[in-house]
Amino acid sequence: MTIGIMGAMPEEIEPILKKIGNYEEIKYANNTYYKANYNNINLIIAYSKIGKVFSTLTASNMINKFSCEMILFSGVAGGINPDLKIGDLIIATSLAQHDLDITAFGHPHGYVPEGKVFIETSEKLNNIAKEIAKSENITLKEGIIATGDQFVSSSERKKFILDTFKADALEMEGASVALVCDDLDVPCFVLRSISDTANEEASFDFDEFLKSSAKKSSNFLMKIVDKIIING
Ligand code: ADE
Repeated sequence: MTIGIMGAMPEEIEPILKKIGNYEEIKYANNTYYKANYNNINLIIAYSKIGKVFSTLTASNMINKFSCEMILFSGVAGGINPDLKIGDLIIATSLAQHDLDITAFGHPHGYVPEGKVFIETSEKLNNIAKEIAKSENITLKEGIIATGDQFVSSSERKKFILDTFKADALEMEGASVALVCDDLDVPCFVLRSISDTANEEASFDFDEFLKSSAKKSSNFLMKIVDKIIING
């Protein structure tokens, strides 16, 4: 079995590489892919760089070049749902591109012909996450995550994303990874820990909480990897 583990930024995969310890570095398509044998399965780990284009490229490479049979994304997000506080964990049940806009032609936000507004993640992987959270008493929210090529630090933009997509959190890579997985028929899982609440203080909060929130997400993601391995 080969599992792909993605983040967008170095901080989002460093705790995972640290836990694994031994890995090989493979340079490909102007990026580094870390290959490891972990409890007798193969892991391919990489940070894509920020945004939908880089994350699309990395997810595609993980599947088509490195033969990953599922993709697990770990990282941070801006919270929209007021229940989500900094450090809280959320898994995406579905994701949408909040900045995809051909509404001038009468289409809804996030939609282009032959696409869909909401892309679902793997129910099976989400259930594994929920089981672990329950058995270890970890608070885990599930909901809609909105993705766009912008760091949101505006209450007005945040309200638009809430009103339009009913999103619980937002970030810059999840929907593109989910789209690649959906089209290539590979299970997808997106986990995020809240680093800020996408308001006017977001850039300050992000700088302060990126590392600690990324670590929370990484730690929980590795519990899921362990469980997938046990389940076979
Ligand atoms: N990732 C974490 N916080 C974010 C924000 N406010 N906007 C976009 N992506 C984020």
